Amino acid sequence: MTTPTAGTPVSESSTAGQTPTAKPEPDAVPAQDAGAEDDAAADTDAAAPSAAHVAAQPADVREEEAAQAKEETIPALDLSGVVSGYEDTTVLRGVSLTVPRGTAVALLGPNGAGKTTLLRTVCGLLRPTAGRVEMEGTDITRLAPHRRARLGLCHIPEGRGIFRSLTVRENLIMQSFPGGESAAIERAVEAFPVLGERLTQTAGTLSGGQQQMLAMAQAHVRSPKLILVDEASLGLAPVIVDEIFAFLQAVSAEGTSLLLVDQFVVRALGIATTAYVLRRGEIVFGGPAAELMSEDVFARYVGGAED
Ligand SMILES: Nc1ncnc2c1ncn2[C@@H]1O[C@H](COP(=O)(O)OP(=O)(O)OP(=O)(O)O)[C@@H](O)[C@H]1O
Ligand SMILES: [Mg+2]
Repeated sequence: MTTPTAGTPVSESSTAGQTPTAKPEPDAVPAQDAGAEDDAAADTDAAAPSAAHVAAQPADVREEEAAQAKEETIPALDLSGVVSGYEDTTVLRGVSLTVPRGTAVALLGPNGAGKTTLLRTVCGLLRPTAGRVEMEGTDITRLAPHRRARLGLCHIPEGRGIFRSLTVRENLIMQSFPGGESAAIERAVEAFPVLGERLTQTAGTLSGGQQQMLAMAQAHVRSPKLILVDEASLGLAPVIVDEIFAFLQAVSAEGTSLLLVDQFVVRALGIATTAYVLRRGEIVFGGPAAELMSEDVFARYVGGAED
């Protein structure tokens, strides 16, 4: 099979298209002029305090800094050895996966690999029979879904999870905090202006793209810490897919952590720093997203549908 392109579902074996380009290098650091050398030296000193300086800091300041540094390294989400599935079917067989704080992680894999099952397990709709799920260092393995939501977890399920018989405004209010209704609507409309023109429309009568925007906006209004997104672009026109991905990119840039399942592999990998590939309920690849952009690596790990 060929390497996927933006707009190429991973689940389809006919992934014809151009070879994707690797992510652009970050902008080069501008060269310093000669006159800046002293400043640079001063900066270096400031950045690397001497042992004497550190020792001179009050103990409580040092402890606070250490605690802060430790907190920053605690991942947004950490799964270890998770076994989960449905009544008679074990789907996930010892899955370990980490979403570092403030980053986007892509979860890829063929149809039936267990991606949706993994997201359902993280949000609490399914209980693992073994293993552990932690959010920001808190064990949430046995926590009810609404309590996970209170901790800042948001799940945008496949099929959108909106109330189709309610209006756009009512849907947004349902997701807002008490007293924060107007702010929630404002925030949603800022993200997706078209929703502002449709506030009184029943959600079920919106176009597929607008429904997905509403689902995204609902997640956004709660300012979650971690968003799980399952196939947000499924069945949408390319122009809408662009808008959805631009939104996800912006949310990620603001520091929200993302775990992203999407058939548009290259777009998902373009946002993500890390990627995992799930096959038959097991992680078969975990590493830098850019690595999966390589044709060989992608073909080796993702392949076709589960048989
Ligand atoms: N409600 C259910 N009850 C029993 N088995 C299920 C249920 N939902 C999914 N499965 C099975 O679990 C396995 C994993 O399904 P899952 O939906 O998690 O895969 P996926 O990777 O999300 O696939 P896709 O790319 O098609 O969305 C499949 O074998 C599927 O048939
Ligand atoms: Mg799925």
